[in-house]
This record gives sequence, C-alpha cells and structure tokens, in this order.
Amino acid sequence: MSNLSKPAAKPAGKLAGKTSAKARTAYVCAECGADHNKWQGQCGECGAWNSLSEFVVEPASAGKGVAASRRGSWAGRADAPAVTALKDLSHTEESRVTTGIGELDRVLGGGLVHGAVVLVGGDPGIGKSTLLLQAISKMAQTLPALYVTGEESLSQIAGRGARLGLPLDGVHALAETGIERILEHAATMRPSLIVADSVQTLWTEELSAAPGSVSQVRESAARLVRYAKETGTSVFLVGHVTKEGGIAGPRVLEHMVDAVLYFEGESGSRFRVLRAFKNRFGAVNELGVFAMGDKGLREVPNPSAIFLSGSRTPQPGSCVMVTREGTRPLLVEVQALVDASPLSNPRRVAVGMEGNRLAMLLAVLHRHGGVAVGDQDVFVNVVGGIRVQETAADLPVLLAVLSSLRDKPLAEQTIAFGEVGLSGEIRPVPNGEDRLKEAATHGFKRAIVPKANAPKGGRIGEMQVIAVERLAEALSAAE
Ligand code: TYD
Ligand code: MG
Repeated sequence: MSNLSKPAAKPAGKLAGKTSAKARTAYVCAECGADHNKWQGQCGECGAWNSLSEFVVEPASAGKGVAASRRGSWAGRADAPAVTALKDLSHTEESRVTTGIGELDRVLGGGLVHGAVVLVGGDPGIGKSTLLLQAISKMAQTLPALYVTGEESLSQIAGRGARLGLPLDGVHALAETGIERILEHAATMRPSLIVADSVQTLWTEELSAAPGSVSQVRESAARLVRYAKETGTSVFLVGHVTKEGGIAGPRVLEHMVDAVLYFEGESGSRFRVLRAFKNRFGAVNELGVFAMGDKGLREVPNPSAIFLSGSRTPQPGSCVMVTREGTRPLLVEVQALVDASPLSNPRRVAVGMEGNRLAMLLAVLHRHGGVAVGDQDVFVNVVGGIRVQETAADLPVLLAVLSSLRDKPLAEQTIAFGEVGLSGEIRPVPNGEDRLKEAATHGFKRAIVPKANAPKGGRIGEMQVIAVERLAEALSAAE
C-alpha cells in the first residue's frame, strides 16, 4: 500500500520544488537571532538552550525582484549600484529634534535623529511608558506624533497624562496591535514620531505564529523599521526585559534598530538610570538620571551625589567611589558584607557589578594583599540600583570588603577608585582629575587613587590625595 502511494507523492514534491515561492519553516534563536533548518535543543551559534522557536519565512515579493535582477546583469541599468569614493559623497549632519527631556536628549547623543528607530528596554513597571508619554507630549507641540498602545487602554493613557499635568493637545493615540493597521493609520496621519508600546504586543497578519512569539516580534519590528527609514519617521519601540536582562524577543531586534536604551533602577529606589547600550548617532555608556515621583519622572541634571547611602558617618563595609559612566563623574557608594560562611563553598554575590569580577578581585586580595576570605560569604552591593561597569570600581570594592572583614570603617570622608590588576598593581583609570575634583566639591577629605591619576602636589583643594601603586599600599592606606 505504501509502495503504491509513493510514486504518486513524488511528482507533487518535485512540482513544489520547482515553484520557488514556497513558505519555508525556519527555527530562530531568541538570543542571537540565528536561523536553523530544524529544531534543536541548543542553538548552534550562541549555545543558548531552549531558545529556538518556529518561524515561517514567507517568500518575500521584494526578494523575488532582487533575485530576478541578480540573474541578469546590472550593467547598463539605471538603478545599478556603483562603487563610489566615500569622500565624494555629499553628506548632511543628521538633523535632530529635542525630546523636551534633557536627560533623554543626552542619552540619545543630543536629541532624536529624524528617521531613527530607538528601542527602550526595561523591567515592567520601571517607567518606560511614563517616560515616553512625557516625551511625546512635549514633542507633539511641534510635530505630529502618534502613540500606539497595545498594553493600556486609551483612557488609561489619557488619565495618566492628565494626572501628570502633561499637555496632551497634539498627541494622537491608537490602541492597536496589528502592524498592517498601524501602518495604514500612519500613512494617513503622517506622524513625524511614533511610539509603539510595546513591541511584544505587535503582530502581523502575514505570519500564523501567535502574537508575542519571536517571529511576530521580529517581523513587526522589521516592518516598523522599514517604514521609519522610507518615510523619515522617528520611532520609539518599547521592549520588555527578560529575567536574564536582555530584551524579550530575538536579539536581532538590537541589530535592526539605531539605538538601544536600557531603563534601570531598583524597585525600592525612586532613581532611574537610562543608559545607551548601542547608539548609531552618539556615544554609548552615557547616563540619564531620573527620579520617579507622584508627578511622573523628574530629571536629575546634577546627579553626582544621589547614589550615596545618605549616612555620612562612616560604616564598616562601605566605600565611596567616583565612577565616570558617560561624560559626568558620579559619586557612588559600594557596600560589602563579609561574614563567616556555614557553607563548604561560600557565597559570592554581586549586585550592581559583575560576579566574575568580584571572584577575581577576591583572589587578588588573597594573593597580593594577604587577606583571605576563602571561608567567608561575600556580598557586594552598589547603592541606589546603579550598575557600575567600569574597572575603576575594583579598588573601592576591595576596600569595602576589607573594611567589613575587619569591622572597621574607612577614615571619614574618604573616596577611592582604581583598577586592580592580576599581579596586584593598581592601574590608572581615565579622567582621574575630573573624578578627584568632583569628590573635592562634595567635601571629601581623602582620596586613595592610582599613582598615575594623582595630581603633582598630592592635593586637590582641601583634599589629600594618596597615590598607590600596589594593592598592599592601598590596603595599608585604608587601615
Ligand atoms: P510605567 O511607565 O507604566 O512602567 P512600564 O511602562 O515600564 O511598565 O510605570 C509604572 C510605575 O511607575 C508604577 O509602578 C507606578 C510608578 N509611577 C509613579 O510612581 N508615579 C507616576 O507619576 C507614574 C505615572 C507612575
Ligand atoms: Mg508600560
């Protein structure tokens, strides 16, 4: 029976093979966006587990055109791409509009570029919708702007706008998740700015996958990006963040957009930090600082001392550092708790800094500082929910650990910064003088810093600067 049916099936397969326009099923990794022909438990590209999901690739009509033209020769065609010397190309400085929020402009690199697509990621409830509603209400006074919501109802948004006292005159809102209809409305209204809140709710009719699935998110975002580039419309996409800290949906979203901003903060703290993770039109690592209050997000244009814990009498296990994320120095408090561990494998927990770096620093502390914490649990926390990524935090972390271990506070009004190398040397960090000046302005009296960062006279204003070259010197300066 099966033998009989086989020959009948074959020609059909052949026929289907000949017609090129056939939907293909691909399996796309949610982490790195890699395509696979069949499902597998682990992504072959990035090694993530259980990250593949089904994605129906429709034969794109535009793609066909390209394929057809590739078969023929480009030569002699009017639209043939030509090799050009870059210096002969005319270029214009990209034009920017201010978002009306200085801290947001700063993170974007000086305002929003026309036609730019910006992905704003962050935990649920962090304030993404609030930030973008505040921005759109300011921008709508000069530009036609459209707020597309798939999460909240229009009356909820209007209610929030009214409660925050925002001018909502120019803002148009649309509660819609189908990308086709969103683009239809956009085509009639011709907004200069679209906010899509959130990208996870968008879906396209062209795919049969469920809304929220990787393929839907990826395809809908791609349609919006294409629309933005064709029409010069600026687009803010809101994206939720997964437990691992990435934007839910394929990593490939990050490649498609011009800028990726992360909105961070601790749930207990009212401060929020907006950080550029990628920016085609400006610097990354620039920080924007906001405070969430009953009137929404307020800018904190001079944030340098807000990440101190408040208590200025020195406590054991605390060290103030000056970090310089972006273009401003920030005073940040690092806290450590070192306690005898009941476990055979003591815990190392780092909040606001990288865990592996902490483990490495503790090894250097043992080997080159002669301080053993092998039988102790070590917890390190950066106050205020800020995340410190630069290596200038190395020395303050170790000073905080030592201070907690000895149960002895650092001398009053002391700051520190510096990178700690594997051989126990203290390496300089960029912009040492800026950092020292900032600390001096805030009344700090002592600074323990790398030798190359110290000023000639050993002082900045009232502040005494102790220059150290080796970890052992730094530890004895702190005791
Ligand atoms: P929201 O912008 O809805 O967050 P997201 O879009 O990132 O999910 O912010 C919601 C949180 O912000 C909510 O927990 C309440 C708080 N909030 C205030 O504290 N004050 C305010 O004026 C507003 C609008 C929100
Ligand atoms: Mg929201």
